[in-house]
Amino acid sequence: MDFNQVFELRRTINEFENKKVPNELVKNAIEAGNLAPCHRLTFPWRFKNIGQKKRKRISKKYLEIKSGSKSLAKNIEQKLICKIMNSSHLIVASQIKHEEAKIDLENYAACSCAIQNIMLSLASNNIGSKWSTGRITEDRETYEITGINSEKEKIIGFIFIGLGKIPPKIKRPKLETIYSEI
Ligand SMILES: Cc1cc2nc3c(=O)[nH]c(=O)nc-3n(C[C@H](O)[C@H](O)[C@H](O)COP(=O)(O)O)c2cc1C
Repeated sequence: MDFNQVFELRRTINEFENKKVPNELVKNAIEAGNLAPCHRLTFPWRFKNIGQKKRKRISKKYLEIKSGSKSLAKNIEQKLICKIMNSSHLIVASQIKHEEAKIDLENYAACSCAIQNIMLSLASNNIGSKWSTGRITEDRETYEITGINSEKEKIIGFIFIGLGKIPPKIKRPKLETIYSEI
């Protein structure tokens, strides 16, 4: 596949089909993530592939967060559960914390590079992904379920992986508005 095509192929998938993608391709993608640049060779990224039982627990917590004090209609509940359960894989991405703010920021940049590598690797195999953040990725219970020590690591997102409809093209800024020769 033409390399430039991969950049265009990588799009955020919003709804995943309940279909499995080979574990091997996901592992290859994580290998690609591990090739990302990082200042001072900190390798600050960590990834965990969350199993079904833990995903169920996360989906319960997700429902709790989304419903607040009200009860949700059954179809809405089902939709929210599918959001956590349907994708083939759910990876939790975390960053090793550093006490120095400057290094922490650089480490986040490095983790972002790693996640982009992962998503591009998947796209090159026609596998979709979504980097997702929100209250669920910040919740204390998510740390507990995934066994991530919040004193040492920060969850920086869920990476949903699987098959799904590619969304319509989005309008991006024109080159001349983001690039100049000086
Ligand atoms: C740090 C980060 C967090 C994101 N969190 C979410 C999210 O919580 N929910 C979501 O729908 N998309 C999320 N996205 C995906 C963006 O919405 C998406 O990249 C953007 O709409 C552009 O679409 P594209 O990825 O198809 O190019 C996130 C992207 C990044 C880089």
